[in-house]
Amino acid sequence: TTARISIDRTNVVAPLNRRIFGSFVEHLGRCVYDGIYEPGHPTANEDGFRLDVVELVKELGTTTIRYPGGNFVSGYKWEDGVGPRQSRPVRRDLAWHSLETNQVGLEEFGRWCELTGSELMMAVNLGTRGIAEALDLLEYANGEAGTALADQRIANGRTEPYDIRMWCLGNEMDGPWQIGHMTSADYGKIAARTASAMKTADKNLELVVCGSSGSAMPTFGEWERVVLEESYDHVDYISCHAYYQERKGDLGSYLASSMEMKYFIDTVVATADHVKHRLRSQKTIQLSFDEWNIWYLDEHQASEEVNDEWRIAPRQLEDVYSVADAVVLGNLLITLLQNHDRVTSASLAQLVNVIAPIMTEPGGASWRQTTFFPFSVTSRLARGEVLRPRIDVGSYDTAVYGAAPLVDSVVTADAETGTSAVFLVNRSQTESIEVTIDVAGLGATSITEAVTLHDADPYAKNTFAEQTRVGLSPLAGAILADGTLTVTLPPVSWSALALA
Ligand code: AHR
Repeated sequence: TTARISIDRTNVVAPLNRRIFGSFVEHLGRCVYDGIYEPGHPTANEDGFRLDVVELVKELGTTTIRYPGGNFVSGYKWEDGVGPRQSRPVRRDLAWHSLETNQVGLEEFGRWCELTGSELMMAVNLGTRGIAEALDLLEYANGEAGTALADQRIANGRTEPYDIRMWCLGNEMDGPWQIGHMTSADYGKIAARTASAMKTADKNLELVVCGSSGSAMPTFGEWERVVLEESYDHVDYISCHAYYQERKGDLGSYLASSMEMKYFIDTVVATADHVKHRLRSQKTIQLSFDEWNIWYLDEHQASEEVNDEWRIAPRQLEDVYSVADAVVLGNLLITLLQNHDRVTSASLAQLVNVIAPIMTEPGGASWRQTTFFPFSVTSRLARGEVLRPRIDVGSYDTAVYGAAPLVDSVVTADAETGTSAVFLVNRSQTESIEVTIDVAGLGATSITEAVTLHDADPYAKNTFAEQTRVGLSPLAGAILADGTLTVTLPPVSWSALALA
């Protein structure tokens, strides 16, 4: 099997916005406690943050980190997480049925963001709380000295404002599981009023209104329309959340999951632009794909896990990912980049232990899941502008999506350094595919890096017992001559090439 890709240097999707490489830290399971934070761990710093995890986060190359939820935020009192730690209350977290000690809150997480070089993206609670508490948090986080809450922050040891730019107006407010969930009309109104108040305090904030919690929600599309009609003038982004998994052993459909993500993006863009024209607005709403990942949710829901104890940091949602999962994840990232003209911010959900690329054991090791690799390489190599290549390739039949192209790809090119990068997946389960790529327009003359994620066993995983079973390997046989790059992609693989 063969494929041809041509790259037109002028076919630019958008300049690369590094917020596309965001992630998400929720107070859930062992993401925060026993994940990023474990006082007493041999690598912990004076704040209790594991420095081995900090190093892995830097290597992963995440940028903006959404915090503190997720479903958790809809019952959260941000005040519980600031000030002297010994007087912080322990609370029940109803979203995940666990105990929240509040030993990590805005202050600690702000320091962790500095340690990892991350931009903090904050969510406000619109489930059990409202405008006043959102404004209080904004003042505490971003206020200059001289007002009560800003002065409280300073008294708590943080002189400089956090200057948080991106704010989520609640989380998944359409979901019946959400504490305080609402109808679209009710949520649209409260989101608009909260956003308007927050922008009165600071007109340069970037605000994310909740879209549907998934494209399978019965209200998908209509929810976006109603919410945006209420809030359009006051918000900048609408959120998208999508999780994928293999179902009933149908690997072929699973490998084509990106087609669902594309449908999702197109539908939200169409709906947002419909509202734009109805309102005769000059503004275009961006998409914040602030939860995306692989999540074996069906299995979690079917497992009848009885969680009737209230525990601190229970092991929850600790999915272990395979090579196939990593190939799908790499393809989802390709799709986000292909649609980067509208999806300008995204968060891989989540970062550590909970449906995460990084795993830890208390007192022990931390390691990379298979899904770590496509994310970290894409974040490291993608530079400059995102280009949409033309891909001529055959397809295969899937039960869920019909005909699915065998190969998918996206390209980035950096005019300043003259470097470029090509990202590719081969969705075939049986065939290697030789791909001929016309890179003459990129002016590239050499391959500086060529890696692939592939294994004879697409279900191979990295586990506690075998932490480095799966990794990147060189993409053998890649050749660049006379403006043509030729590569052979193994079956069920994700690959990246850097060119100069
Ligand atoms: O990421 C896990 C959960 O998925 C989040 O808390 C919620 O927003 C979504 O349903």
